[in-house]
Amino acid sequence: RNVYPAINNPVRHALNLQLLELKAHGRYGSVWKAQLPDGFVAVKIFPQQDRQSFLAELEVYALPQLKHDNILKFIASEEREDGDSTKLWLITEYHDRGSLCDFLKGNTVSWADLCKIGETMACGLAYLHDEIPDTVHMKGKPAVAHRDLKSKNVLLKQDLTACIADFGLALKFEPGKCSNETHPQVGTRRYMAPEVLEGAICFNRDSFLRIDMYACGLIVWELMTRCIATDGPVSEYRLPFEAEVGQQPSLEDMQTLVVTRKMRPALNPLWSKHPGLSGLIPTVEECWDQDAEARLSAGCVQERIRHLARTVNS
Ligand code: ADE
Repeated sequence: RNVYPAINNPVRHALNLQLLELKAHGRYGSVWKAQLPDGFVAVKIFPQQDRQSFLAELEVYALPQLKHDNILKFIASEEREDGDSTKLWLITEYHDRGSLCDFLKGNTVSWADLCKIGETMACGLAYLHDEIPDTVHMKGKPAVAHRDLKSKNVLLKQDLTACIADFGLALKFEPGKCSNETHPQVGTRRYMAPEVLEGAICFNRDSFLRIDMYACGLIVWELMTRCIATDGPVSEYRLPFEAEVGQQPSLEDMQTLVVTRKMRPALNPLWSKHPGLSGLIPTVEECWDQDAEARLSAGCVQERIRHLARTVNS
């Protein structure tokens, strides 16, 4: 029984959907917890003027083969009249734990939790980044760069596996097609790779994927800062570079820090005493390398964390 109108379903009947609770305010509109007759869903509501962003995100969810355990599941989209304005609704699965950022604010993680979250996030990212060629039986998928990867855009499922969300800035790379779009500085300043902060303009597919990997390194560092595997105390959650530039860094703050001074978040000396955390340090350092071409791929990060999880037990 197909209860959900697909993107191109001509029968656009309104879902019997009730908004329950405002969960987050994003760059574009707001995210609500909502009730369908058979369970909870998340609804991201875009105002009419953000139609472009809504359509961009819808286009990513509409890609063939985007279904993956570690990518947020799309359910439906709708246009709703709301008084005298039109609102655009993007309906996805709901995850009660919310974002990794919120989770780390309120919780510490064990070594096993860290590995599970890190590995599954890298798995989702590797899948997003991968190009799957067409076969006679199946349409493939293009490589996709996220372009706004951060701990707020990684959601946690009940079993602490991760899924990647928010594709409003994502770019797809159709094989053989050359996108001649101009690519300005987009994303969240705090998570911008040095080459983005510098304002480099000539990015190809691989350069966009490497920009995501820089942010991936910062997120793994966030996980490490809240891990209880060390003997010492675990400090309060702080965003990457919050200690250095505070809550609302300007572009110039970030340029000075990351491009000119080549700074990265501090590595806790206690980490070197834990076989797992110390083993993870080269991985985060190779993700946030100044030299984009030296950065690890998402598949490699996944593999490294998987290996560490198996060899280090606590
Ligand atoms: N915050 C943003 N998207 C969400 C979702 N799908 N589930 C729960 N919280 C969210």
